[in-house]
Amino acid sequence: PVRLVVLVSGSGSNLQALLDAAADPDSGFGAEVVAVGADRGGIEGLRRAERAGVPTFTHRLRDYASRPDWDRALTESVAAHRPDLVVSAGFMKIVGASFMAAFGGRFVNTHPALLPSFPGAHGVRDALAHGVKVTGCTVHFAEAEVDSGPIIAQRAVEVRDDDDEATLHRRIKEVERGLLVDAVGRLARDGYRVEGRKVYIP
Ligand code: GAR
Repeated sequence: PVRLVVLVSGSGSNLQALLDAAADPDSGFGAEVVAVGADRGGIEGLRRAERAGVPTFTHRLRDYASRPDWDRALTESVAAHRPDLVVSAGFMKIVGASFMAAFGGRFVNTHPALLPSFPGAHGVRDALAHGVKVTGCTVHFAEAEVDSGPIIAQRAVEVRDDDDEATLHRRIKEVERGLLVDAVGRLARDGYRVEGRKVYIP
């Protein structure tokens, strides 16, 4: 199976969906989570990995003299697990040049909005504030610029008049989990080709 390293900063519900798919012999997922990395300790995402028996590592930015030092340490820890794909599943740090040199082209991110609308750390809040009637989630290849990069898959979610950030994010995440598993599984099983901004999965 294709080797995944997953990066998390929070509750890890998207990570859990990948772990569940990988653990289910009938899912035909085609990938396994070989390690989980975080930028902070004490998060549910790390506990989910531990419960699944998956090794973890944590690199906190504030423990490093500079951001490039942190980025190099993160890159080395990820590389040690020899991933085929790296998945950012709610990892709330921007990676740097070392990381992109090592994993560019196989670094997948999931974002809770329909990119290129509402990039950044508050995709759900920003969509609500704009008053859009439809938002959703995007799985894409990450590039140096935040939430840019070729789009692999998207799904739409309707915004309700009485939504707040929490209710809307909850409904997006229900859809996002399935989208991420589906997209990563297709990349793993079928391979892919990127031409300019377009991703082709045979
Ligand atoms: C997900 O909705 C993900 O798209 C978002 O954080 C959530 C993490 O949830 N990521 C971003 O906003 C990145 N800009 P989880 O920890 O339960 O998987």
